[in-house]
Amino acid sequence: MGSGTVLLESIYRGLNFDGVDINPMAVLLSHVKSHPPSASAASTAVEGVVKQARDPSGAPLHTFTGVEKWFHPQVRQELSLLRQAIRAVAEVETRRFLWVCLAETVRLVSNSRTSTVKLHIYSPSDLAARRPKAIAMFESIGKANASRAAEHWARVLKQSATALTTEPPEVHIQRASILSDIVGPQSTDAIMSSPPYGDNGTTVTYGQHSYLPLQWIPHEDLVGTFEEHLLQSTARIDSLSLGGSRVGALDARKEIEEKSTALAEFLPLIGNRPDLLKKVVAFSRDYETALGRATRPLKRGGFSFWTLGERRVGKQSVPLVRITQDFLALHGQTSVLVIDRVLPLKRKRMAGLNQSGATMGTEHILVTVKSS
Ligand SMILES: C[S@@+](CC[C@H](N)C(=O)[O-])C[C@H]1O[C@@H](n2cnc3c(N)ncnc32)[C@H](O)[C@@H]1O
Repeated sequence: MGSGTVLLESIYRGLNFDGVDINPMAVLLSHVKSHPPSASAASTAVEGVVKQARDPSGAPLHTFTGVEKWFHPQVRQELSLLRQAIRAVAEVETRRFLWVCLAETVRLVSNSRTSTVKLHIYSPSDLAARRPKAIAMFESIGKANASRAAEHWARVLKQSATALTTEPPEVHIQRASILSDIVGPQSTDAIMSSPPYGDNGTTVTYGQHSYLPLQWIPHEDLVGTFEEHLLQSTARIDSLSLGGSRVGALDARKEIEEKSTALAEFLPLIGNRPDLLKKVVAFSRDYETALGRATRPLKRGGFSFWTLGERRVGKQSVPLVRITQDFLALHGQTSVLVIDRVLPLKRKRMAGLNQSGATMGTEHILVTVKSS
């Protein structure tokens, strides 16, 4: 589900939506983007929290492992004031909207560089020069998000004016691993996803990226299930994501090669690097299971759309489109077409800067149909 783009586009077309993501931050963000408060309630809530946070009576300092490393004392104090003020808001959906604003504030005011999705502390000289203002940052993010809520409700209203039914689309979102035996919809017309292109550790560390924001949000206000172990280390969510576990990976090579000719042709190209082989096999093993689970509810004749990028491993380009076609064929899907898109590099800023050397300038949309 990621940040919920397909979810919103479904709502704006009056289509029911079912989505899943392993990351609690992706689930909260998707929930709030699809159920924001009204623009005026959002603005009033932001103003109220800012006013309360500026009250001189103070707040106890919020604490968690590493808080002193990742936050300047003044920033920590301001974030603690904001957190206390948000907790005092009575209505849970309003609080969730405010937590999303706080999450973005945390990302921008922490001591971790904003130029990468990894947790990577600024240099001592940069840290000495930095004095971000958390309350002012929250206020400006809150105002911007309140106007996004206005745009959202305007689009929903426009859709409902032309809808054939008076029922709004149904939205179900779950925090779970696609690898677990989740209970999903029985029958769907279409599936759309941009799955990870490799293990998070060497592609995009979505888990690390959400680690600090999730430390500031009370877990009872999150959406769906939350388990404490998800935050036991900065690497935990990434290690549970596709390709995160490499246990027994080399032994699984033969079995996975039998499922994809494209993969069987690729693996010998990195055959002299067991470390890389292990990563690619571990990811492919999870990816094949994930594609099977995700396509299970698709109706016969239903389409699936996969936005894919081809990253490089050991200086060789991984043929992810062909591998995906091979795996999907095992689950009764036939390829219909591949649409290539050239992306402005700016759009893929975070991934493009990643050390894996991903070929992020081009994207492919693979379209398949369920034929058996
Ligand atoms: C490439 S991102 C999706 C990006 C999204 N299309 C967007 O534009 O925001 C991949 C998503 O897959 C999720 N993910 C990784 N492993 C998962 C798993 N085992 N189960 C469910 N979601 C998983 C990640 O948390 C991440 O949100």
